[in-house]
Amino acid sequence: MIPRHKVTSVAIIGFAVIALICAFLYTAGVFGNNQVTAQQFVNFQQGENPHLGFRRAHAKGVCVRGDFIATGELAAHTRSTLFEAGSTPFIGRFSIGGGNPSAPDLESGVRSLALSFDAGSDQQWRTAMNTPPVMAVGTPEDFYAQLQTLMPDPETGQRNPERIAEFFANHPETENFRRWSAQYQPSGSFASEQYHSINAFYLINQQGEQQAVRWAAVPTVQIDENQYADTDQAANALALDVRDQLEDGTIVFDLVFTLASSDDDENNPTQPWPESRQQITAGQLVIRQLEQDAAICNNLNFDPLILPRGMQATNDPILRARSASYAESYRRRARETWLGKEQQQ
Ligand code: HEM
Repeated sequence: MIPRHKVTSVAIIGFAVIALICAFLYTAGVFGNNQVTAQQFVNFQQGENPHLGFRRAHAKGVCVRGDFIATGELAAHTRSTLFEAGSTPFIGRFSIGGGNPSAPDLESGVRSLALSFDAGSDQQWRTAMNTPPVMAVGTPEDFYAQLQTLMPDPETGQRNPERIAEFFANHPETENFRRWSAQYQPSGSFASEQYHSINAFYLINQQGEQQAVRWAAVPTVQIDENQYADTDQAANALALDVRDQLEDGTIVFDLVFTLASSDDDENNPTQPWPESRQQITAGQLVIRQLEQDAAICNNLNFDPLILPRGMQATNDPILRARSASYAESYRRRARETWLGKEQQQ
């Protein structure tokens, strides 16, 4: 006969083990609303043959440095000192979508600009922006389904148009994205694209009041052609163009904030806000030079939830999925780099 206190101890340990397993499974997203985990996103994005040491998305990019020259016009809306009139240095990264660090620049459907501002310990701000102004779908689960639908067949290398048409038909919220996509003409340069935050955030002012906003880096030049497009250097056409432009001068964007009204849903990244909404030019992003040390950008995670005091995340579920996935991608490449396993391109 086993003594009663031993049975109790075994039961307690048993419960503790089960509770630990449940906590682990919950964290991994097996229960609850988290249908897609960061690991699933990154596994899918990296595919069967990951490029070790590289970002699992937006793997190909150019690292740059510059200064944000704030006009002070946004300062009344946020406690962040970043927006008071003055200058803050930043590190930036232009990139193209996809997980291939040798992909041909001009064939990517998505171009991006990520920025990391450092104006003191509670004034760190990171943002990663893309060319479309809206997302096709509004939840991590639907975005995962969208990625799977757009995936080319491994045998033929072709996308399945019927499957894509069915996905769009079942997701009417994709309409705004599709309308944008149909008219979008890629320009000849990273310098002449407009990059959008897509997701909305709150500005918090000195009185503690919040204002939902989106922002965009708006180009100050129009460049239609790329001089490397039809040469044997076409694969790196956008990167070479940035190099050339910075040899002669600077690349400048206006950083323009759009203020939501109470009719706009700040948690839905599939819906554009009307053009009549108030816009404020917070300042100019002046890109001055290429950053030659690749480690500077490789060691940066442009996590959209790294926000300065005076800015907060909305409840848009995409933001949490992004933050978790960027961290997972960062962990993988940092570990590979540390172990000396990164691939040479
Ligand atoms: C659920 C939706 C999304 C997922 C799962 C996702 C996933 C990822 C991952 C895994 C990376 C690589 C991060 C790293 O290793 O540093 C990445 C990079 C990036 N993503 Fe997303 N993303 C999502 C939505 C978006 C949206 C809406 C935008 C634009 C507003 C965006 C813009 C970018 C940019 C610009 C980069 C490259 C940043 C850099 O240069 O390091 N992503 N994304």
